[in-house]
Amino acid sequence: MGNGGQANKPVGKVMVVGAGIAGVQASLDLANAGFYVHLVEKKSAIGGVMAQLDKTFPTNDCSMCIISPKLVECGRHLNIDILTLTEVEGIQGEPGNFHVDVLKKARGVDMSKCTGCGTCLEACPIRYEPQMPEMERMARTAYAKATDEDAVTAIINRHRDKVGNLLPVLLDINRQFNWLPRCALEHVADELRIPLAEILRVASFYNAFSLVPRGKYIVNVCMGTGCFVKGAPRLLDRLERELGIKHGQTTEDFMFSLELVRCIGCCALAPAMRVGDDTFGRLTPNMIPRILKSYVESYGIEEEEEAAG
Ligand code: FES
Repeated sequence: MGNGGQANKPVGKVMVVGAGIAGVQASLDLANAGFYVHLVEKKSAIGGVMAQLDKTFPTNDCSMCIISPKLVECGRHLNIDILTLTEVEGIQGEPGNFHVDVLKKARGVDMSKCTGCGTCLEACPIRYEPQMPEMERMARTAYAKATDEDAVTAIINRHRDKVGNLLPVLLDINRQFNWLPRCALEHVADELRIPLAEILRVASFYNAFSLVPRGKYIVNVCMGTGCFVKGAPRLLDRLERELGIKHGQTTEDFMFSLELVRCIGCCALAPAMRVGDDTFGRLTPNMIPRILKSYVESYGIEEEEEAAG
């Protein structure tokens, strides 16, 4: 790092680029050794992929239990300067005397005032506004399907008098609609007298909840280490081609949503995927069309049965 123009007088500063678990651990080790660390991360938060995982491979230990204490320590360490939404643009100099140019992106939040309370979520005009015309249409259709207030009220009533009822209520609504419609969350806020910001904070924390419309069948392709090395990327490629969507998207008819997960707990069957509650293992790309077809057919039968009353 630079030393304020005093050439030949290196100071104890280092820069760590990338704040995944490796970057965070390196920063802590360096900071504890007495170096002042600039930790650069291009995303808005530190922790990287590990912070999004449920379990770690191969021990199945809880990811957050491992990484959370490190994140907290990193955030509080006086020797660590965290630079999020920042990218390295150029490096000049030589060992012991580097000058690094970084580009810090606008955050839209005054970090000196933000306490992380989450209240701004409620007023945010962007978060739930679909960004694409296609998404806008999809969201409108799904909202229309989800205006069944009675169904939401019935769910709330099932859990109304229980302690800690927010999570079960959200789980049941998510199960009913396959996502958490905004109107349903507002209804929960009114009925349970819980601030909407608090509900959104819980809803956006867990991967199990979706705040955008999803299809009837959620296809989860395992991208954990075991499945990845056994060909999961080829499965994903075939699924994307068959469904005509990318992962993270939903088909136009709301039949399938395609998502990625890290380990679904059956590594011996790798590569594996889950469709709804069904698990498929030892898959090859050629098996994908047949599996998808079976769901399309069973959907048709369900529809006919519903129509027949
Ligand atoms: S890595 Fe464990 S099921 Fe895929």
